Amino acid sequence: MRTDIAQIVRLEDYRPSDFLIDRVELDVRLHPTATRVTATLALRPNPEGRADAPLVLDGDEVNLKALALDGRSLPGGEFGASPQSLTIAQPPRRPFTLTIETEIDPTSNTKLMGLYRSSGNYCTQCEAEGFRRITYFLDRPDVMAVYTTRIEAEREEAPVLLGNGNLVEAGAIEGKGRHYAVWHDPHPKPSYLFALVGGRLGRVAKSFTTMSGREVELAIYVEPGKEDRADYALDALERSMRWDEQAFGREYDLDVFNIVAVSDFNMGAMENKGLNIFNDKYVLASPETATDADYANIEAIIAHEYFHNWSGNRVTCRDWFQLCLKEGLTVFRDQEFSSDERSRPVHRIAEVKTLRARQFLEDASPLAHPVRPAQYREINNFYTATVYEKGAEIVRMLKTLIGPEDFRRGMDLYYERCDGTAATVEDFLDAFAEVTGRDLSHFARWYAQAGTPRVTVKGTYDEAARTYRLDFTQETPATPGQPTKEPMAIPVVVGLVARDGGALDASGDRVNAQGVFLLDKASDSVTFTGVASRPVPSIFRGFSAPVKVTLDLTNEELLVLLRHDSDAFNRWQAAQTVAMRLLVELSKGASVPDAAIADFTSALRAFMEADALQDPAFAALAITLPSEADIAQEIGADVDPDAIHRARRHMRRHIGQACLETLQDFRRSLAETGAYSPDAASAGRRALRNASLDLLAAADAELGEALAGEQFASAGNMTDRLASLSVLTTLPGDAREKALAQFEERYRHEPLVLDKWFTLQAAIPEDGTLERVKRLMQHPAFSINNPNRVRSLVGSFAMLNQMQFNRADGSGYEFLADIVLRVDALNPQLAARLLTSFSSWRMMEKTRRGKAEQALRRIAGKPNLSRDVGDIAARSLEEQNA
Ligand code: TRP
Ligand code: ZN
Repeated sequence: MRTDIAQIVRLEDYRPSDFLIDRVELDVRLHPTATRVTATLALRPNPEGRADAPLVLDGDEVNLKALALDGRSLPGGEFGASPQSLTIAQPPRRPFTLTIETEIDPTSNTKLMGLYRSSGNYCTQCEAEGFRRITYFLDRPDVMAVYTTRIEAEREEAPVLLGNGNLVEAGAIEGKGRHYAVWHDPHPKPSYLFALVGGRLGRVAKSFTTMSGREVELAIYVEPGKEDRADYALDALERSMRWDEQAFGREYDLDVFNIVAVSDFNMGAMENKGLNIFNDKYVLASPETATDADYANIEAIIAHEYFHNWSGNRVTCRDWFQLCLKEGLTVFRDQEFSSDERSRPVHRIAEVKTLRARQFLEDASPLAHPVRPAQYREINNFYTATVYEKGAEIVRMLKTLIGPEDFRRGMDLYYERCDGTAATVEDFLDAFAEVTGRDLSHFARWYAQAGTPRVTVKGTYDEAARTYRLDFTQETPATPGQPTKEPMAIPVVVGLVARDGGALDASGDRVNAQGVFLLDKASDSVTFTGVASRPVPSIFRGFSAPVKVTLDLTNEELLVLLRHDSDAFNRWQAAQTVAMRLLVELSKGASVPDAAIADFTSALRAFMEADALQDPAFAALAITLPSEADIAQEIGADVDPDAIHRARRHMRRHIGQACLETLQDFRRSLAETGAYSPDAASAGRRALRNASLDLLAAADAELGEALAGEQFASAGNMTDRLASLSVLTTLPGDAREKALAQFEERYRHEPLVLDKWFTLQAAIPEDGTLERVKRLMQHPAFSINNPNRVRSLVGSFAMLNQMQFNRADGSGYEFLADIVLRVDALNPQLAARLLTSFSSWRMMEKTRRGKAEQALRRIAGKPNLSRDVGDIAARSLEEQNA
């Protein structure tokens, strides 16, 4: 499949740059189609580089207009230039200045990398390799420079001009209607952190006093008229800054911190130094337009980008193989922040749900790769759940193993040593090895070995000796390029629970005071002494490691955990495990005795009656079944999505019927009173009320339609309105179409709200959905150029609608292939993301597998594919363990 092997970039081939750039002066004259960029680069040979090397600067679709070396215009014979690179074969072997003038066209830039326009405003996106689309440069993260940026534009077109760092000068240009601003960033940074913005924007601001008493002006820029929707983000920013001071001792280091929200953006947001640029979906919120989930995402992403100021910017990555160094660590940090701001156990469950849905899925697919990959063809394809989410789990395991105090000391040492440098995963681990005196080389395997380890646990009770032994074995499946695996260093947090819920004071050998046992061999065991009665083990409390677990517990024993475990995560996990067992059996067409289902539903009812209202957010999670995609993943081979859908519907109906009264009680006692507030406790009450609605509708469609219809008509916020509309969409008929039309009419001028409307319809588990999605692509609010629109409609169809995307006739696959090819010509990054929805094609049953392969081969065979799509298509088709 792979024809361009030469293009593979390998970690082992890393060598320092032959040249360094100390200072960059940019003069950018903004123009819709012909922006002029003059870059003045202070270059010098790198003492660690090769002495006789040519200077090769990266470029991408840039036009060279002029080139001078130390002020002398270079004749054609002394350099070579193409849109992809600029080469000087015989550069000076001493410091010198290169002045490069290029012209670029931001209006036709549909890739949304480099300088582009969004709603008429100018903005940039440079990570990972976008700076080379602005000017020729050594576009690699270990080349760090101090930037001064002068931006010039028509005042009418772009009254606001923003750059990295602090504003040093601004003014009008006589008689031309043009103006300029000069920004200076004193902190050396890699080019991927460069940014500039020019446009018409509204602004909200507040001042922040740092821990050492410095004043910082915080500002968020949004589309004019939407300023009040940025208040929550601004508040989240302030809380993030305070939290990083308190939790990690990290203070902000510039006079201003600016955030700009744009509506065309390839990902969530970007941590450019002092000038974060955000997908407006993760900034704008009002009770009328945003759900509780939106508020939580905004808080997490604002924090994430802010935290990058230390984990990513002050300490950056030596090369892109080290991406997890900033991303995994920063996800860990934003998760900790959200856990502190909200409910820790509830947040942990949410984290694990996404980890399993996205990362475990990836790890079991042909796209599986280590947290630190050893090679790539297109770096944009490695901003993955593995690098981000599993990367965060590694940091969390490290903290579990060494304890919070040593973890903090290690972080401090890491920042102290690596501040201002481009670092590696080794630098990170070395700091912790040093403060603890521990050898972390075995632990480091988590960065190198792909695949989700499977841990099997067996418990044995010896009544006479009053001992309880846990026998562990572990195994990691083969993944592409890694046919055999070594045992991992797995922190297992364990505890024992008495069957009657009473206390069980037992101590295990090799289990520390925090309940942590380190499983670092293929098999091992722990023995607890002084165990008064046969316990139920609670293993991997708080999900202490990103592994799959097989337990030899009965459903009855698991339901003891649901009631009595002191660890909230494992209470939730117990209910999920029982539900999953039943769902898998039902999906496979096995006959499941009614009694087994009844035992589960009555345990759920008992839980609801006894505990649910004490923590509604937790209860909402506990009564929600694993998703269809989760069930498919658990089955793992010869998957029939129709059977899974039926099984899940069957179970939901049973739960709804068995708990009808309790659920109706919840609806009443959790009724919304007073003004909407996005805080976690209020959101939790709405979550339980809406989860109840969903189960009631499954139990009794008529009742569901009545309740949902009433809620839809009277809802005072988007969370409740959308939840009721979501229930209505699962019930075919007039009521649904009427509600959808009302919603459309009401939010006609709100693109981010219509995205939710697209998503709901794309997820309808019915035969007509594909036609509906195709029809919606003609809707005036839809645009193939806008990533949010494409993801909401097409992405949701492929990712959320298991049954209809994986249609046995292959029409779902063919549709997605058409869209991927169409989008690839405009925006390869977006196209490649969409294409990853094929990644589990091999686990489908034979007919679907054949159809999916056909669609994938059609894509792979297309000439002129982008590197992004070519790479995903080729890897998806590769033999699993090749
Ligand atoms: N560094 C960004 C983050 O995780 C994500 C990012 C990488 C990105 N590449 C991008 C964002 C391209 C937008 C476009 O915080
Ligand atoms: Zn990040």
